[in-house]
Amino acid sequence: PINPDYDLTKPIPPDANGLRQSLTSYGDAHFSLFLRKVFIKALGYSEDALSRPIIGIVNTYSSFNPCHANIPQLIDAVKRGVQLNGGLAIDFPTISIHESFSSPTSMYLRNLMSMDTEEMIAAQPCDAVVLIGGCDKTTPAQLMGGLSANKPILHLVTGPMMPGSHKGVRIGACTDCRNNWAAYRAGTIDIEDISAINDELAPTAGTCGVMGTASTMACTLVGLGLMPFAGATAPAVSSSRLRIAEATGANAVAAFQKDIRPQGLLTQESFENAITVLQAIGGSTNAIVHLMAIVGRHWDSELVRNIDLKKVDEIGCKTPLLVDLKPSGDNYMTDFHNSGGMLALLRELKHLLHLDAKTISGRTLGEEMDNTRFIEVPRSPNVIRPYDDPLYPASSLVVLRGNLAPGGAIMKASASKWKNLLSHSGPAVVFSGSADMAKRLDDPDLDVTENSVLVLQNIGPVGNPGMPEAGMIPIPRKLASRGVLDMLRISDGRMSGTAGGSIVLHISPEAADPNSALGIIRDGDIITCDVNNRILRVELSDEEMSRRISQRREAVENSRDPKTIGAQPSWVRREKMRGYRGLYMRNVLQAQRGADFDFLTADGPGSSLDL
Ligand code: FES
Ligand code: MG
Repeated sequence: PINPDYDLTKPIPPDANGLRQSLTSYGDAHFSLFLRKVFIKALGYSEDALSRPIIGIVNTYSSFNPCHANIPQLIDAVKRGVQLNGGLAIDFPTISIHESFSSPTSMYLRNLMSMDTEEMIAAQPCDAVVLIGGCDKTTPAQLMGGLSANKPILHLVTGPMMPGSHKGVRIGACTDCRNNWAAYRAGTIDIEDISAINDELAPTAGTCGVMGTASTMACTLVGLGLMPFAGATAPAVSSSRLRIAEATGANAVAAFQKDIRPQGLLTQESFENAITVLQAIGGSTNAIVHLMAIVGRHWDSELVRNIDLKKVDEIGCKTPLLVDLKPSGDNYMTDFHNSGGMLALLRELKHLLHLDAKTISGRTLGEEMDNTRFIEVPRSPNVIRPYDDPLYPASSLVVLRGNLAPGGAIMKASASKWKNLLSHSGPAVVFSGSADMAKRLDDPDLDVTENSVLVLQNIGPVGNPGMPEAGMIPIPRKLASRGVLDMLRISDGRMSGTAGGSIVLHISPEAADPNSALGIIRDGDIITCDVNNRILRVELSDEEMSRRISQRREAVENSRDPKTIGAQPSWVRREKMRGYRGLYMRNVLQAQRGADFDFLTADGPGSSLDL
């Protein structure tokens, strides 16, 4: 087959490629193509090679990114799959984001990566694209960009790392990073042990080996129909991972030939399946923010209206938590893989899924399940629980609302350590931001008991750009050393998918918003969290709340005086900020809309819909 991009005898087809070609043409479109052939031939490609379907491979390798360390090998394997099936594989870079090396937070860079991905897919003459990624923000950024660019996209994740070992106990990033650090803080582990543990927590290449955000997003991609079942769980360092990569290359050629594009492939049913998976795996709370951002890129406005936080909660109510992995349970991703992985899980969930939803192979999810070889694994250890013997009966992730969170808030109820806190009222101990918390949390004079509710303000999208994963407020040292393992903690920030506790996150609107309720909470206000009734409330009268809000708004307005510049809140300062930070601060949406940029959503100004 002749790639229309390189056929000089025919008019340029009026698809996305054609549009981009005319935008970049040097006077006339055929001359533009002629020039492109001049330059691509400088790389040594023959006419024969250039006549094949061109499969782009997005390379997010970086020496700062251990989660992506196996990418060079994966690219080789994808190329093999493409070229054995008559395509031409061409890899190209986009930015690389690792959780630990993305100051101020990786989330701050997710939208930038989605823009990079979208524009490079759209700009270059690829017929289909394999998106290789894995670390937390990468897969969502790639799907957001790929969905907006709307060329055939195939996800290939780098895969989970293996667990390590300390004194005969298995450990793995990053639930055990937190548990062991908390034990060290409480004085139950000494400095020698904690250093030895540091060597073992991430013993191989690959993504965090528990049900953190990376694993959650990988499983969610299977639910969406964008990746084969084993693609979510095969270890990063396994030969299976390489065979999956080769198959992804082959599938990419087929997806181009069948013209399977994500805007058509992803339906309301696909998103409902993804949410069912998310609830059944006890997935990361971050995945909810990412899913909302992905949905916001969809061109079907009815779908966008229907897949919202309410839907996440509704599906949760009928979905049991079946996968026993840290942080909700005890095991690691390799155990999940060895127990049958996503195929075994989907078989348990069969009657909750839309089996007729299409997948990237062109077949339905049900057909894929019937046609994929399944080897029954004895249920021991009990990593994938049977439907009627769940780890947690339903609603591992819940959506709370109330006067404190009119736009919603999220809680991973299944990861609560002391379940009595799921229905709790207590006096607030308020920290105005991360710095304030760091200063006072461990002060022996801090007025706090285990019944207090720890409130952390100003770690939302605008307040602390990127919504840092600071929502798992540590237990004050004086309580931790007395054996207090959990407290009710609330914030507008996020929490790592590998963390646990009775923690309310993503409160919207965020505290930095001068109209928010979270921003006016004071020490001693009584806060109520009632998971059964899905309520998050502060026990203040409406009048008192309005009085405090207008007082605060006045202070924000007064701070516009240039003389007070040092004291201006982020909400005001953002108007004058330069560069990406200014772009981020002025355009980021609240958590319930995925913290995407307003101009990137499908209904935003300058969207793909307007092209
Ligand atoms: Fe990359 Fe956890 S740090 S997946
Ligand atoms: Mg993480």
